[in-house]
Amino acid sequence: MENVIECIKKEVIENNGDFKKMILSDSSNEIKKIIVRPVEIKNRAMFQIERYSQNKVFHENVELNAILDISYFEYRQILVETIGRDIIFSKQKSGYKRKEHSNTLRPLDINLSHNKQKSYIINEGEFVPAMIDLGIFTEDGKIVRSKYDKFKQINRFIEIIDDVFKSIKKDEITILDFGCGKSYLTFLVYYYFVEKKKMKANIIGYDLKSDVVDRCNEIAKSYGYTGLHFQMNDVKKDKLYDGKIDAIISLHACDTATDFALDYAIKRGIPYIFSVPCCQHEINQTIKKGGDFDILLSDGLIKERFSALLTDAVRVEILRAKGYNVDVIEFVDFTHSPKNIMLRASLTNKNGSFDEVERLIKKYNFTQKLYELTK
Ligand SMILES: C[S@@+](CC[C@H](N)C(=O)[O-])C[C@H]1O[C@@H](n2cnc3c(N)ncnc32)[C@H](O)[C@@H]1O
Repeated sequence: MENVIECIKKEVIENNGDFKKMILSDSSNEIKKIIVRPVEIKNRAMFQIERYSQNKVFHENVELNAILDISYFEYRQILVETIGRDIIFSKQKSGYKRKEHSNTLRPLDINLSHNKQKSYIINEGEFVPAMIDLGIFTEDGKIVRSKYDKFKQINRFIEIIDDVFKSIKKDEITILDFGCGKSYLTFLVYYYFVEKKKMKANIIGYDLKSDVVDRCNEIAKSYGYTGLHFQMNDVKKDKLYDGKIDAIISLHACDTATDFALDYAIKRGIPYIFSVPCCQHEINQTIKKGGDFDILLSDGLIKERFSALLTDAVRVEILRAKGYNVDVIEFVDFTHSPKNIMLRASLTNKNGSFDEVERLIKKYNFTQKLYELTK
């Protein structure tokens, strides 16, 4: 019994938001089954206990430690579900036998609005139909487990957009998405502005892959999303959009595609930029030893990471030189993506200078696309 109680203390009460539910079953007691779930009530983390008798269900919300008062030993089977693992206790003559296995192939079944760790702008269970076609949600509105990281990323992206736009009153908005890929984010941005903010939205996603672009256009059309379009275009060379643009977004647009997105915004004076850069090869391939940073250029892995950080630092400096106020934000936790820096920029009328970037380029002899495009 002790190992059951220890497990409940650790996995259920002291969990880091990973606890999903606990099911006690197989009992000769009048209460045949008990289900415990995390709930948030008036900003307090609590548990909801559901007790099932032969023909009735009783609900009770209790403080965290109160679940230790349940008569566990009356149930022969106890299942503790967390994100990623199931822990099962089966009663034997000698006590409870513990088994544990991964549950990563099952869809998630957690009501995130009740999760004490996080409340999302778009919650699981909220019916975003296109998200089912795109493979993020199952038919019954649960997150497909293999898409959990993507779900986290796009929700966080919307959260950061919401931070900026919640106080801005506009009837209409135009946003371009550079390197939209399967367009989970593009659809969610459209949904956010049209369904949540009740605005007219004109959102265009650009990508090189024609099959993905066609599929996204089909899905958008099937839901009557008249302001959401996808085009097969190379953001490095094709002419994109003529009208007024309010913001550009890019999520993991490959290598220098991010630089072309930033350059596009700079040249057109687009007021807002939300960009999470991806793999960054250019500085890593061109930088030479030349001074104080040499210790960071001797070993491949350190050089690669240093070059990625230097790339983003150069981009920030250039955006500032071109009149943008830039916030460098942790996008998602490293476990959900190692490419986790977001550059969020808004246009001001203050300009900075390229001096520091030029000094470093001279000293370390690297090339950087945004600098080449904007100098
Ligand atoms: C890593 S995926 C990210 C897709 C999507 N933004 C997401 O986060 O799920 C990068 C996408 O950028 C697209 N891409 C790369 N270079 C591009 C270019 N020059 N023009 C348009 N799209 C490009 C690729 O085809 C790919 O779909």
